[in-house]
Amino acid sequence: MASVPSLASSVNQRVADALASALPDAGASDPLLRRSDRADFQANGILALAKKAKANPRELATTVVEGIDTGDLIKEIEVSGPGFLNITITDRAIVETLTARAADDRLGVPLAAKPGTTVIDYAQPNVAKEMHVGHLRSAVIGAAMVEILEFTGEKVVRRHHIGDWGTQFGMLIQYLMEHPHELDHKAAGDGDDAVEVSGEEAMSNLNRLYKASRTLFDSDEEFKTRARARVVDLQAGEPETLALWQRFVDESKIYFYSVFNKLDMDIQDPDVVGESGYNDMLVETCKLLEDSGVAVRSNGALCVFFDDVKGQDGNPTPLIVQKSDGGFGYAATDLSAIRDRVGNLGATELIYVVDARQSLHFKMVFETARRAGWLNDEVKAVQLAFGTVLGKDGKPFKTREGETVRLVDLLDEAVDRATAVVREKAEKVGLSEEEIIENGQYVGIGAVKYADLSTSASRDYKFDLDQMVSLTGDTSVYLQYAYARIKSILRKAGEGDRKPLAHPELELAPAERALGLHLDQFGEVIAESAAEHAPHKVAAYLYQLSSLFATFYEQCPVVKPEPELVVGENRLFLCELTARTLSKGMSLLGIRTPEKL
Ligand code: ARG
Repeated sequence: MASVPSLASSVNQRVADALASALPDAGASDPLLRRSDRADFQANGILALAKKAKANPRELATTVVEGIDTGDLIKEIEVSGPGFLNITITDRAIVETLTARAADDRLGVPLAAKPGTTVIDYAQPNVAKEMHVGHLRSAVIGAAMVEILEFTGEKVVRRHHIGDWGTQFGMLIQYLMEHPHELDHKAAGDGDDAVEVSGEEAMSNLNRLYKASRTLFDSDEEFKTRARARVVDLQAGEPETLALWQRFVDESKIYFYSVFNKLDMDIQDPDVVGESGYNDMLVETCKLLEDSGVAVRSNGALCVFFDDVKGQDGNPTPLIVQKSDGGFGYAATDLSAIRDRVGNLGATELIYVVDARQSLHFKMVFETARRAGWLNDEVKAVQLAFGTVLGKDGKPFKTREGETVRLVDLLDEAVDRATAVVREKAEKVGLSEEEIIENGQYVGIGAVKYADLSTSASRDYKFDLDQMVSLTGDTSVYLQYAYARIKSILRKAGEGDRKPLAHPELELAPAERALGLHLDQFGEVIAESAAEHAPHKVAAYLYQLSSLFATFYEQCPVVKPEPELVVGENRLFLCELTARTLSKGMSLLGIRTPEKL
């Protein structure tokens, strides 16, 4: 196992190192250490090693047991089964390792040995359209991936590939041109200064314009013709047309930012590079593809063909890079974005947090980029595909009227419910009205995010607010309460500014060992979830951490420790490290941990 630069090696790493030195020829072979019920760890790697060396696995395992330097680290090591090793760690090693973690601001989480540059494409709503639960998933999962990767030392570039281009703008712009005051923001006082509109108002303006222009487009042939001509002007970059287009984008951004704000998410304007941001590259992208033969003309359109992508009629379905009328679509933009992200931003990895229903598109786009040489073994692109959000009934989430649910309504409801939950306990905890409101937001938004992040992204999940704000079970509220409870324990113990000290000389109770060993795994979980693009692994880790803490707290009196004071202090040390680990982990998921709840 390669050692990584860090202040603290985990117990796991230390055991792996000890095993490796007992087996000098094993080189970089993985000892396959797992947490186990029988001992603290089980090492299964001897089996593969024996197979390679054509040796008897039990004998090889016995050699390791005899040769290993157990030091202060290993209390017991024994061969079991066909050649597994059961390993029990000393209490001292657990506490000492945790002490090193506690002394580090990064909680001993190592930085990646070779960090790269990842461009994450996430939170990409569409201009002049309402955001829906799909956009919520992309935003929540993407933001968590950003934080997790950055924590490992990766350079992360955020890209919000908003849908800000396309033929639908012809109709909208033409309508606004003919009804020039429809997007004016009426000033309340005198003068004609524009006033700030709320996100809600911005969206309702856009909705109104969208509906009105659509109605006209469908009923008035002449308007339709003018709208189509407007598309041509837009593509040609005609200034007045562009200026009106920009107003739609700006109005939409007011709305997007208001939703992101509600979501407690920091989205920066320079990172919003929509489809239109690649307009200048489209012609060149097509030329490069055509010149290299990656794309070919077929019935006038520029197409890329794939052996394994066929329509129902059995004919190949190409990726259309340029339509026969000369127009460019979604694919040309995405291919240009790849060139930009790799060529200009220096990406070593591209992650697209997009609905699984767009998987075929990305499969074809990535394959095309590989054929063109823009992607290769050094620069990979992956779709972090997410499943559909379902209603309680297990069907895609819709209102009773069958319409898509407005994200804003949903978030507001989550906050309302959460505020009610917080309020119930508020008196006992001594929360002011202001704190109730603030915590209600943290709990409500946290609940929505956690529900999304606690199952693997590719799976569909049920949007069930009752379940989400429940105090028991795998919910963010449960984790937030665990955190607040620890903080209250620490306050009561009067630790204040002083950090409780660890006492490695003490014998640990089983619940202390279990909690301690789990705390020690934080770095490994972060590395794994970063490498596998799996934020749900962080969520699962935190949930288990809270459960282990609950058991510890039940079995090991903290405030009135028996039999000596140092036992209590060591327990407070575990409490403090648990709180910091919980809070760090939650913040990676974009979830706040109020101090009092
Ligand atoms: N705007 C698209 C949608 O709402 C998602 C964009 C995904 N990103 C991309 N590079 N194609 O479905």
